[in-house]
Amino acid sequence: MTDDEQAFGVYIHWPFCLSKCPYCDFNSHVRREPIDEGRFTRAFAAEIAATAARVPGRTVSTIFFGGGTPSLMQPSTIGGVLDAVARHWRVAPDAEITLEANPTSVEATRFRGYRTAGVNRVSLGVQALDDRVLAELGRMHSAREALDAVAVARTVFGRYSFDLIYARPNQEPKAWASELKCALAEAGEHLSLYQLTIEPDTPFAALHAAGKLRVPDEDTSRTLYDTTQEICAAHGLPAYEISNHARPGGECRHNLVYWRGHEYAGIGPGAHGRLNHGRLNIGRLDSDGERHATATEKRPEAWLSQVEQQGHGLVSDDVLTREERSDEFLLMGLRLAEGIDIDRYAKLSGRPLDPARIAMLHEHGLVETTGEGRLRVTLPGFPVLDAVVADLAA
Ligand SMILES: C[S@@+](CC[C@H](N)C(=O)[O-])C[C@H]1O[C@@H](n2cnc3c(N)ncnc32)[C@H](O)[C@@H]1O
Ligand code: SF4
Repeated sequence: MTDDEQAFGVYIHWPFCLSKCPYCDFNSHVRREPIDEGRFTRAFAAEIAATAARVPGRTVSTIFFGGGTPSLMQPSTIGGVLDAVARHWRVAPDAEITLEANPTSVEATRFRGYRTAGVNRVSLGVQALDDRVLAELGRMHSAREALDAVAVARTVFGRYSFDLIYARPNQEPKAWASELKCALAEAGEHLSLYQLTIEPDTPFAALHAAGKLRVPDEDTSRTLYDTTQEICAAHGLPAYEISNHARPGGECRHNLVYWRGHEYAGIGPGAHGRLNHGRLNIGRLDSDGERHATATEKRPEAWLSQVEQQGHGLVSDDVLTREERSDEFLLMGLRLAEGIDIDRYAKLSGRPLDPARIAMLHEHGLVETTGEGRLRVTLPGFPVLDAVVADLAA
């Protein structure tokens, strides 16, 4: 992996789904009425213009349509948004343009249209390869349908990935191992494997609180995690991030923009951005400029009205303090197997990481330092990553 410090990503949020999955707390909404995509396209274009006026002259290296379910958008809507990005910034000829898709047969019929519009990578939410589990997860597709969508993605796009959720209720390590091996047989260069999180205020949280949904205990979760690492590494897709696996060179470049602390624009309802203002600061965290954390209005219709009236949907735009910047750099960078550049952290925060703390974590086998001056979390360290970060940032 090369760390391109000039990397600049554009994230576009599509906030609608056909139904709400009971575990999910993403900013996604179900609407009875058809969505006015023309109106959304114009609003996306306006917000892109407003963002480009703040950070002009960038070369876009990655674009990511996330959701919600962006595979509900018409290919012409995707094309309209990509045109707007290209009108306001230069788009690199090898830009990675990803779209998140639900793996249903209806959505797969739109894949060629997305390819023609410029999308060159898809990420499919397969979630599980067991129909009973898919029903429990509230999914609207079977395992067969999902794998058929993966097959269409393989022929239409150069690059594809899919997501699975594990550490699900009653999941046994043995059953997960065989499910994962089936998934790897269908995988391309990239897989995202998320441990189920019980998110507050979701139907799963209510079931969990009522004792009707039992998630694996700590030991079983740990076994599930270890099994995942072993099997994926043996298949040539080691973890390059705590939940993401790829063949070398197949990493999601857009997500690397976040984890490496580069610059990105957040467009659409409830999108977050990090914009670097000031001199000589394109994509660099350790420059003299300011780094702004931006967030837009989450409610889709309120976002639309705000953009139509004000030209942008921003509800917050804060200059990060030195401490916030360096904490974020640590938090995001240590999720990566490559870890962080220790000197870059010191420049950012104005003080080096405490060698005594590093030594202590090293003694426990949780972190290691490399000859190139990097600090990284070890495989046994990843399950306790939050504690490691908290210790180093203290
Ligand atoms: C925005 S969603 C994916 C896009 C698409 N709407 C779909 O569901 O196929 C991103 C991914 O986050 C994961 N995810 C969502 N909620 C989760 C939770 N509570 N625990 C673990 N993974 C979750 C799922 O794997 C999902 O595919
Ligand atoms: S998991 Fe995907 S389809 Fe389900 S509600 Fe969340 S964003 Fe929508």
